[in-house]
Amino acid sequence: MASVKVRGLNKRFGQTHVLRGVSVDVPDGSFAVLVGPSGCGKSTLLRLLAGLEEADEGSIALGDRDVTHLEPRDRDIAMVFQSYALYPHLTVRENLAFGLKLRKTPPAEIEARVKEASEMLGLGPLLDRYPRALSGGQRQRVAMGRAIVRRAQLFLFDEPLSNLDAALRAQVRVDIRKLHDRLGATSVYVTHDQVEAMTLADEIFVLNKGVVEQSGPPLEVFARPRTQFVASFLGSPAMNFLDARMEDRGGRWVAAHGDLAVEIDAAEFPGALAPGRRVTVGVRPHEVEVAPGQEGASFQVAIVEALGAESYAHGTVAGAPFVARLEPAAPVAKGDTVKVALRQVHLFDAESGVSLRAA
Ligand SMILES: Nc1ncnc2c1ncn2[C@@H]1O[C@H](COP(=O)(O)OP(=O)(O)O)[C@@H](O)[C@H]1O
Ligand SMILES: [Mg+2]
Repeated sequence: MASVKVRGLNKRFGQTHVLRGVSVDVPDGSFAVLVGPSGCGKSTLLRLLAGLEEADEGSIALGDRDVTHLEPRDRDIAMVFQSYALYPHLTVRENLAFGLKLRKTPPAEIEARVKEASEMLGLGPLLDRYPRALSGGQRQRVAMGRAIVRRAQLFLFDEPLSNLDAALRAQVRVDIRKLHDRLGATSVYVTHDQVEAMTLADEIFVLNKGVVEQSGPPLEVFARPRTQFVASFLGSPAMNFLDARMEDRGGRWVAAHGDLAVEIDAAEFPGALAPGRRVTVGVRPHEVEVAPGQEGASFQVAIVEALGAESYAHGTVAGAPFVARLEPAAPVAKGDTVKVALRQVHLFDAESGVSLRAA
C-alpha cells in the first residue's frame, strides 16, 4: 500500500474551474474521506487520482512515485463506483477474475485471489450467479471484490453506497471500514453524506467549490469548524446560525440581537471584540438548553419531532430558523414560546464566514 500526496491540483472544464489548488495528504494505511455538496468537485478529484482525467496544474504522487502523467493502468489503483459497473453477461466469479485475466495473471493465481476475496466478502455462495440475480448490497460487494483481487496500492470509492437503502447503507459502511483495516489498505472515499464521512474517516477533507476548506480528524473538524460552511455541513440536524452584533456591556462581551444575548469568552474569540461588529452565532441543536420561563432568548416552537430515542423542536429564534434537541420529558409542544440558553457557541465573521475562534 502507499501514501497519497496531491499538490496544487487545478482542473477546468471549459469555463468551469472545478478544482482550485487542491492539496491532500493521505498517509499509508489511512482512510481519507472527501466530503462536500453535490457539484463541488469530488468525483473530478477522484478521477484525477485514478488517471481518468488529466490535471491542468499540480501533481499526484503515490508512495514515492510521481503518477501525474501515468496512464490509469500504470497507477496501480482500484476504483469502486456508485454504479457497480459489473458485466451483466459474466458470473460473479468471472466478474472478479476479469481484470486479472486481462493482465494475463496465471490461472492458479487468479483462482487463489478470487477465493480469498470472495471469502473476505462472503461471496462464496454467489460465485456462479449473474449480477441480475443479486441484491444491490451483493452487487456492491462484488464491485469491492474486483478491487480487492487487484491488490492495488490505493482504493478509491465514489459514493459506493448511494444506491442502497438506509439499513443496508449502514451495514455496508461498516463492512467497508472493516475491509480497509483488514487489508491494511490506503483508501480515498468520496461522499456527500456527512454521516458516512464522520463514521468512516481517519481524516476528512471538506470540499467546497473546488477548495479544501478544512481537513483533520472528523471529531476535531466537527468541534472546531474554521468556516461557517464547514460548520453547516457537518452535524445532523445542522448547526443553527443567528445574526448578532457585538456589544461591550461594562467589560462583558455579548453577541446580541433582540432578546438574544450570548456571553462571549474574550480569550476564546479575541477576533470578535469590537463594538458593533456583525457576527454569526452558531450553536448545535444538542448544545441548546430549553428552560421554560427563565432568562434567555425566546424560541417560538412550530413543531416537535419525536424520533423515539430523541426529540427535536423546530421553530425560530430572533427571526431565524432554529432547532433544539429536547430532553426526553421536556414539556414543550408546538405553539409554545420557551426560553433557550446556548451552552457551547461558535462565532463567525458575518461577512466572510470565517471562524473568530483563536487558533
Ligand atoms: N467531463 C466534464 N465536462 C464538463 N463539466 C464537468 C465534467 N465533469 C464534471 N464537470 C463539472 O464539474 C463540476 C464538479 O463535478 P463533480 O466532480 O462530478 O462534482 P461532485 O462529484 O462533487 O458532485 C460540476 O459543475 C460538473 O458539472
Ligand atoms: Mg460525484
